[in-house]
Parts: sequence; C-alpha cells; structure tokens
Amino acid sequence: MADDALQGVDMRWLAERVGTPFYVYDAAVVQARIDAITALTAAPGLQARYAMKACSAAPVLARMRAKNIWIDAVSGNEVLRARAAGYALEAAEPEVMLTTDVFRDNALEVVRTYGVLPNIGSPAMLRQLAAAGYHGPVGLRINPGFGHGHVHSCDTGGPSSKHGIWYDDAVRAAEAATRDGLTVTLLHAHIGSGPTVQEFSSNMQHLVDFFAECLAAYPQAQAVNLGGGIPHPYRPGAPTVDLDAFGQLLRTAQSRLSQQAGRAIRVEIEPGRYFVAPAATVVTRVTDVKRTHANSKGPGHTFVMVDAGFGDLVRPAMYGAFHQISVWHAAPEAATEPTIIAGPLCESGDVFTRDDAELLQPRLLPTMHPDDLVLIHDAGAYGYTMSSNYNSLGRAPQVWIDRGIPYLISRREIFEDLVRTECFSAL
Ligand SMILES: Cc1ncc(COP(=O)(O)O)c(C=O)c1O
Repeated sequence: MADDALQGVDMRWLAERVGTPFYVYDAAVVQARIDAITALTAAPGLQARYAMKACSAAPVLARMRAKNIWIDAVSGNEVLRARAAGYALEAAEPEVMLTTDVFRDNALEVVRTYGVLPNIGSPAMLRQLAAAGYHGPVGLRINPGFGHGHVHSCDTGGPSSKHGIWYDDAVRAAEAATRDGLTVTLLHAHIGSGPTVQEFSSNMQHLVDFFAECLAAYPQAQAVNLGGGIPHPYRPGAPTVDLDAFGQLLRTAQSRLSQQAGRAIRVEIEPGRYFVAPAATVVTRVTDVKRTHANSKGPGHTFVMVDAGFGDLVRPAMYGAFHQISVWHAAPEAATEPTIIAGPLCESGDVFTRDDAELLQPRLLPTMHPDDLVLIHDAGAYGYTMSSNYNSLGRAPQVWIDRGIPYLISRREIFEDLVRTECFSAL
C-alpha cells in the first residue's frame, strides 16, 4: 500500500506530535468520494444523504453540506452535530432525517424542537411521537423481508433483522400515524451492501420493485429512500460497484415511481461507508515482537504488539472485518513473515488480523521491530465513531490532512475526560 496516499505527510513526524495511536484522514479522498456520489445523484428528483454514523468528524460534515448532501442521523446528538456543521434543521426540505429504532436521550426533544424528519423503525414510535406533541411528517423505515450487510452478522433486512417495520405491518402503521395526526411522507429501507457487489445491485433493483408495488398504499409519500450500503473494496483487487449502472438504476426508479404515483417522487440514497471508508488510517506503534512456539495445542505465531486495540478500531474484532495493513516506509525488499497484529487490551480477541470466523489469521507482513509504525487502512467508516475508551484507555486523537497540511481535529482523551461524568449523588 502506497505511503504517499497521505499527501506526503511524514507519519513519523505526526506520531511525535500527537502520540500513537492516532487517526489520520485524507481530505482529498473524502472529496473524491463526495464528488462521485454528487455525480451519481445529479439528475432531477435524486438526492444523496450521508449516513453520518460512519464518521461524524466536523470537516467531513462541512464538505457534505458544501455539496448539498443531506444527512441521515441516528440519534438526537447526531442531529445536533449536523446542526453544528451548519445544516438547517428547520429547512422546508428534510435536509436532516433521524432514522432510529428507538427514541433515546434527547431524540424526541430534538424532533419536537427542530422538526427534523423522524424516520421511525417500530410502530409504537408513532404513538411516542404524538404523545411528545409532534404532529408533522414522518418516514417509515420498512423491513422489506430481504437483504443483509457486508458480513453475515450484519443483518439489515429479513425475518432475523431487528430494523424497521415488517412490510406487512407498515400500512397499518401508516393508518395509525394518520389517526395520530402524523403524515407518512417518506418510505425507507436500508438493506445493506450484501457480501458481494452483485448482491448489492440485485438487492437495490429488488427494493425498487418492492416500493413500486407498495407505493399506492401511501398517498402522501413524497420520497422513497433506498438506504445506504454502497460497498467499499476493503480487500486488494476486490470488485467495485459500477456507479454508472447504479446511477441508471436510480434515474429509472425515479421516473417509474413518479409515474406510478402520479406525482414527483424524490428518490434518495444514504451511503455511509462509501463516502469515508478509504479516507482514514489508524497509525499505531509497534511496542514489541514476541513469539509462541508450536506444541500439542497448535502452531506457534509471531505476535507484533501495537498500541492500538479494538477500542480504537473495533471492526476486525466485531465482524472479523478485513483491513489492509502496511508498515510505514518498509523497504520494498524487506523480508516478510506470517504475523498476528495484536493490541493492548485485556481481551484475547484484541487482534487486527482475523478471519470471518473470528479466528487468528496470520498475515504476510514485513518483519517488524519495536517503534515501527503500522498503518491500518480504510478505517474511515465505523472507525473513530465506533471507538471506545475500554480499559480506560483514552480515545485516540484525529488528524485531518488538507492540501498537505495536518490539522488536529480532536485530541487524545485523558484521565479527566474519562471521569468527567462520574458522580456520587443521592437520588
Ligand atoms: C438506516 C441506515 N442508513 C444508511 C446506513 C449506511 O450504511 P453503509 O455505511 O453501509 O452505506 C446504515 C448503516 O448502518 C443504516 O442503518
């Protein structure tokens, strides 16, 4: 993997400035993906949203807004992040939508205060909205009975998915909404990218057919949202989605659904990972190289211990997800060896080189030594936003590189951050 992907900035210098581990974002990579989606949705009646759960860093949101990419938020606080980035919550168009299966914390209050479009994922949420005094437009997140995510454990549609309202129950939910003074203006489904590119395209077509069939039951619907899920090729040489063909699918869907409804239907998509996955790298330092040796229990391994763990990037531990890994400025002719990259957490699963069955999978990498810098690539989506301070290790800083200049966009969490909310007050 080319080191020059980071705009020529010296990672060793950065590591000295901010310490390791850290996240580093390449603004040009985010911009290229934004431009690709903007081109994809350039036709009238198409609208892109950004599923900001993938990465809510302020400079990312600012660039989305500059290109009129709307927002899909999942919590009241994500809505407030969008607002802080300049999105107009009270805009006539639903620039910010709140898609959630459960109202929690300030979500209802944010909907009531700002009128952002709630896209609800379970029937009782309609009553909860009405009880909270909200009587405006709503979206219905429908489980269309099919679909699944980038790995099998990511279940985004079908009988075993927790998301959305089961398709047979959706019309009843819409009738209940009307009784509560709510109007269903948007139909939504997010069925995920599927493990293969082919599956994404066929799922999307299937979803358009599904909405074409049920649209007549929702006379107030103005928009159909096909969700996110555009796949990112994490593995070298993995096939990429044909965006031209997808654009054609969207344009055809827009005119078909509009014709069928007898009014203009806006067709939305809301990718998350595609926008940001390749834009960030986790930079971590080798602290030691240690070995186990074969015995009757199994083969021995080379463990390269690094200072990043699943608290920093949970995807490999959570999903067995694959991320490309390289060593900063490793000589091209460097010797390689099968290597396990493991982190500091007190969990045996704190390993970045795993397979889909979540077992150790040694990777052929340059022989490493303490102080080498290891780059974990394609960490922009569900990277920092899913990070935690497990083991009371502070969350890593984030660095944003724009035109060769690095900016600190969040600092490392320190002890005082970790205990700031703690108290011992009688209730
Ligand atoms: C409702 C909804 N929309 C969009 C997305 C974005 O999916 P992806 O990042 O795969 O594009 C998700 C992901 O969880 C989602 O739940």
